[in-house]
Amino acid sequence: MRRPRLAVLTVAAALALTGCGGGSDSGGGTAAGKLEGNGPITFVTGKDTSGYVQKQVDAWNKLHPDERADVIELPESADAQRQEMVKNAVAKSDTYSVLNLDVVWTAEFAANGWVEQLNEADFPLDKMLAPTVETGKYFGRLYAVPITSDGGLLYYRKDLLAAAGVTAPPTTWADLRAACTKVRAANPKIGCFAGQFDKYEGLTVNFSEAVNSAGGTVVKDGKPTVDTPAARKGLDFLVNGFTQGYIPRNALTFKEEEGRRAFQAGQLLFHRQWPYQYAKANATDGSSEVAGKFAVAPLPGLDGPGQSTLGGHNYAISRFTQNKKTALEFIQFMAGEERQRANLQATSQAPTWGSLYDDPALVEQYPYLPVLKESILKAEKRPEAVQYNDVSVAIQSAAYSALKGDKTSEQALAELQAKLETLIGK
Ligand code: GLC
Repeated sequence: MRRPRLAVLTVAAALALTGCGGGSDSGGGTAAGKLEGNGPITFVTGKDTSGYVQKQVDAWNKLHPDERADVIELPESADAQRQEMVKNAVAKSDTYSVLNLDVVWTAEFAANGWVEQLNEADFPLDKMLAPTVETGKYFGRLYAVPITSDGGLLYYRKDLLAAAGVTAPPTTWADLRAACTKVRAANPKIGCFAGQFDKYEGLTVNFSEAVNSAGGTVVKDGKPTVDTPAARKGLDFLVNGFTQGYIPRNALTFKEEEGRRAFQAGQLLFHRQWPYQYAKANATDGSSEVAGKFAVAPLPGLDGPGQSTLGGHNYAISRFTQNKKTALEFIQFMAGEERQRANLQATSQAPTWGSLYDDPALVEQYPYLPVLKESILKAEKRPEAVQYNDVSVAIQSAAYSALKGDKTSEQALAELQAKLETLIGK
C-alpha cells in the first residue's frame, strides 16, 4: 500500500486551505451528510480507569432502551487503543459505533475516511473551550466532538512541603529540586518527581512539555525545530533527573496509572499528571495514602511557569457502523452540560464546557479548576498529522533513549530532528 505523504497542519494553514475564517460557521464549506439509522450501538473507549464510563452510558441506556449503547473497553495505553481502532477501521468492521478518540488522532481518522464528518450546529461547541473544539477538526471541518479535555498539572505533597518550611509550590525546575532537597532531609526515601516516562504517547506529551517549558518547540509552523539549545535544556531536565536522582529509576516504566499508584502510595513528592488523578488520590476509602495531603499547581519550567501539552478525548462516529443517527444522539447527550458536570463531579476529569470551570460549587470541590482552565487555554498542541503516529513514535524513541542514558540529549535531538524532517519536511 502506498503511504500518503505526511501532512502536518497548523491551524493557520488549515484555515488558509479551506478559506475558512474560523468562528462558528460550518467549517470547510462541505456540509456533513445525513446520519441515519436508529438502534443499538457500541461505545468504544480506553480502559475505564475512572470506573464512571459505564454510569454515563447507563444514563443514556435508561432513556433509550431500544438504542442501547454497549461499552467496549480497550487497553489502558493510548497507543494500544489507537491500534485496535485502526485495525477495526481498516477492516471496515461495523463493530465499533462511537469512538472515543484521543485529540491527536483526528487528522488520521478524518483523512482516511474512517469517521463521519459532523455538523457543527448539532453540538454546543460555542460553550466549549476553543482549543478543545479545534482538536476535533481537520481542515476546518468537524469530525469529533470534545467530551473531556486534559492539561498537565503539578501534584505536590503540601504536608511535606509545609513540614520542610517550603511555603509555595515551585514555579521553576530549580525551585522544584531545592524543595526536594529540603523535604528529603527528613524523608530520604521519597522520590522527588515523576511523570509519564514509559515509551508510549505519554512520553511524547512529557517530552513536549519539557521542551516547551524551556522555551523550545518540537514542531513550529509545520517544521521540526527540536535540535536547539532550548529543547536540549528541556530534555536535560528529565535526563538529569535520572542521573542526579531526582526522578526515581522506576519512572521509566510509568504510564499514567503506574505513576498514580506511586503517588497514592506516598512515594513521590511531585508528580506531573492529568486532572483525573485528583479524585482518585483524594479517595478516603483506604485506596490512597495521600488523601487530603496534596494540592495541585501549574507545571514549573526553566525560568518560570511551564507549559502543558493539550490532551483530551473527542467522540466520533465510525463510517462503517449501523445506526448512525443514534450514534449522533448519543454524542449530543454526552456533550451536554448535565453529563459533563456529572463526569467532572465523579471523576475530576477536565470538562470541555468553559462555564463549569467557573462554577463556585465545582471550584469548591476541585480548587484546581481555574489553574486547569488556564493550562488548557495556553496549552501547546501536539503536531497535527495524518501520520501522527509515526511522528510520535519518533519522539518517543528519541526521548526514551536519552532518558535511559543510551544517547546523549544532543545526539537524541539531532537524530530526532533528522527523522522528523524525513517525516514532515524541513
Ligand atoms: C491522556 C490525554 C491524551 C494523551 C494521553 C497520553 O489520556 O488525554 O490526550 O494522548 O493521556 O498518555
